[in-house]
Amino acid sequence: MSVIEVDHLTKDYGHGRGVFDVCAHVDKGECFGFLGPNGAGKSTTIRHLMGFSKPQSGSTAIDGLDSWVHSAQLQHEVGYLPGEIAFPSGMTGTQFLKMQQKMRGVTDPAYLEKLLKTFELNPNIGLKQMSLGTKRKLAVVTAFMHDPQILILDEPTSGLDPIMQEIFIDYILEEKKRGKTIFLSSHIFHEVDASCDRIAIIKDGKIVSEFDPEVLKKESDKIYRVTFQDKKQWEAFTTHNYHFTSINARKLRARIQLKNSEITSFLADISEYHISDFTEFPFSLEDYFMKFYREDKVFEGVK
Ligand SMILES: Nc1ncnc2c1ncn2[C@@H]1O[C@H](COP(=O)(O)OP(=O)(O)OP(=O)(O)O)[C@@H](O)[C@H]1O
Ligand SMILES: [Mg+2]
Repeated sequence: MSVIEVDHLTKDYGHGRGVFDVCAHVDKGECFGFLGPNGAGKSTTIRHLMGFSKPQSGSTAIDGLDSWVHSAQLQHEVGYLPGEIAFPSGMTGTQFLKMQQKMRGVTDPAYLEKLLKTFELNPNIGLKQMSLGTKRKLAVVTAFMHDPQILILDEPTSGLDPIMQEIFIDYILEEKKRGKTIFLSSHIFHEVDASCDRIAIIKDGKIVSEFDPEVLKKESDKIYRVTFQDKKQWEAFTTHNYHFTSINARKLRARIQLKNSEITSFLADISEYHISDFTEFPFSLEDYFMKFYREDKVFEGVK
């Protein structure tokens, strides 16, 4: 049994909005990335997982407990970071954390202290005076202060600066090492690439692709750009039967897209030529997704 299960979840808000027959699961110790553009259905799915919304059909469960039936228990135990946070006014961050400690029954403040240090948060100012980033950090610390085994994070790094985003990714990797199970929604490719074992893409309320990013990287075509020393060399090379994605006579360049199986013979061929530059363009999850969205096609390569 998976720790987190989304089983044919449907919630139709009308006009094609909502989530439709969404299935996903996260096993113990796994970090699962839920990627999709604005309005795709990430928060809707997460709100169902946390038991804030009732499914129209299908179900969601955490640790074998139906989210809707056991919402109070799950909301108490799971480390949930919402996409949008509203703090009460009229208190300081420290007062707010104390209140949360009581509600959560946190008696040992050591982990909270560690979180404050990790995220460089000084909570001793009024909630109203806090910058957006500081509020987000406070939300992060609040969600994790009871050291939960399961983390459900809705765009956790939005509003954080790049250095804090890196710190957050390191924190997620550390938590994964400690055996935590993590469900993370995002539209930041780098974040999911760096932290997730499996990624699903949701679009218009439907899962359109699911894959292991490492497998995808290995199996994806490779792109090389070669610049030749003179026109004759360039002309000779461009008669080869490769998949040229672009050729530039003025710059004496060619850009080639290769399957893994073609790389050895390509390198043997190219060694016969006088070249002035050779560049490999590493696979980028971002390029892949952008292409995927633009072409609007269902990815069938890696399952
Ligand atoms: N309570 C609601 N009533 C009506 N429509 C809703 C409701 N909640 C969400 N929607 C619609 O469902 C779709 C999915 O919204 P959702 O908030 O899940 O997207 P998201 O993937 O989290 O987007 P974002 O990246 O912008 O946070 C959107 O079209 C949204 O307008
Ligand atoms: Mg959202």
